Amino acid sequence: MISDIITVIAPVNIAVIKYWGKRDEDLILPLNDSVSATLDTNVMCAKTSVCARQDLIEDEIWLNKEKVPFSNRLQNCLKEIKARAASENSVDPIFLHLKIRACSENNFPTAAGLASSAAGYACFVFALAKLYKVKSDISSIARLGSGSACRSVYGGFVRWHAGSKPDGSDSVATQIADASHWPEMRALILVVGDKKKETSSTGGMAVSVKTSELMRHRVEYCVPQRTELIVDAIKNKDFPKFAEITMKDSNQFHAICLDSYPPFVYMNDISHSIVGLIHKYNEISGKVKVAYTFDAGSNACLYLLEEDVSEVISLIKHVYPPSNSKGFVTGLSYVEDVNSK
Ligand code: PMV
Repeated sequence: MISDIITVIAPVNIAVIKYWGKRDEDLILPLNDSVSATLDTNVMCAKTSVCARQDLIEDEIWLNKEKVPFSNRLQNCLKEIKARAASENSVDPIFLHLKIRACSENNFPTAAGLASSAAGYACFVFALAKLYKVKSDISSIARLGSGSACRSVYGGFVRWHAGSKPDGSDSVATQIADASHWPEMRALILVVGDKKKETSSTGGMAVSVKTSELMRHRVEYCVPQRTELIVDAIKNKDFPKFAEITMKDSNQFHAICLDSYPPFVYMNDISHSIVGLIHKYNEISGKVKVAYTFDAGSNACLYLLEEDVSEVISLIKHVYPPSNSKGFVTGLSYVEDVNSK
C-alpha cells in the first residue's frame, strides 16, 4: 500500500516584529506577538515531497538528499496532523498507521542560513496536511516544528498571535494583508556570511527569558504598541513608519542578546556597517527609503520600495564589492526578492 506522492513549496518569512522568547518550550508558545512579510516563493522557498508506505519500518526524512534523524519536533508535527485527520475523519484510518517518507530541499543556498527552518517546517506540515486531507488551520501545527514556521503558512503580511491559552490553541498566525495589497514592497537579502550560528535561537531565547531585563520591558511595553503601529502602517502602506518600527525592533532584539547573561551576538562588523550605511542613505535621501532587519545571524534583510531597488543595489555593490576567496565571503551576495508579483 503506497499513497500518492504529494509535493508542495513553502516560502521564507522575515519578521519585522521579532519573536524572541517562549512561555512554553514544549508547545512552542511565544511571549509576544510577531509580524512578518512572506517572501516570494520564486526566490526563496523550501520544497517537500511526502508519501505514506506500508514497506517503511520507521518515518524517514531526507534533507537536501541526506537522510537525517526524524526529530521530536517532526514527530510532534506528524502526530498532530494525524490527530486532526482522525478528528476530521478525512482519510481511511488504516492510512494513519503507515510510516511516511519526506524529502525536502531549499531553492536558496543553505549557506545563506536564512529562515530555512521556518520554510522547511511550514512545507513539511503543509505537505502532510495535503496527504491526510486536513482542512483546518495548520499554522498551530507548523508552530510545533519551529515557532516562526507558523507565519510561512500564509503569504503577504502575517501576524502570529501569542495567544493566552495554556494549550496553545489560540497561538496561531493570521494574514494582515495579502501580497497584492502592497505590490511595490520588495525585500533584498544581503548574504553577509555563511558561518553556522554559535547560539541557536532556542538556546538564545532561553537565556534571554531567564536573564534579560530589557526583554521583560520589550514584551510588556514595546511589542504591544509596535505591533498595532506596524499593522496600521502595513494597512495604510505607510513605508517610513513601517521602516522605522522594523529597524527599531531589530535593534532591540539584538540589544536583548547583549543584555542576556552570558551575552551572545548574531550580527558581525559587516552587519553593523550595513546599519550605518542605511541610516546614512536615508539621511541623505531626506526620507526613510530603506529598512534593515537581522534575524539570529549576520545576514541582512532590507525592505524597500520597487522604485528604489536599483539605486540601493548599486550602492550596496559599490560599498561591498563581491569577491570570494577560498569560500570566505568578503563582500555580500544578493538575493533579490519580489514580495509580490
Ligand atoms: O522559529 P525560530 O525558533 O527559528 O526562531 C526565530 C527567531 C527570529 O528569526 C530571530 C525572529 C523571528 O520572528 O523570526
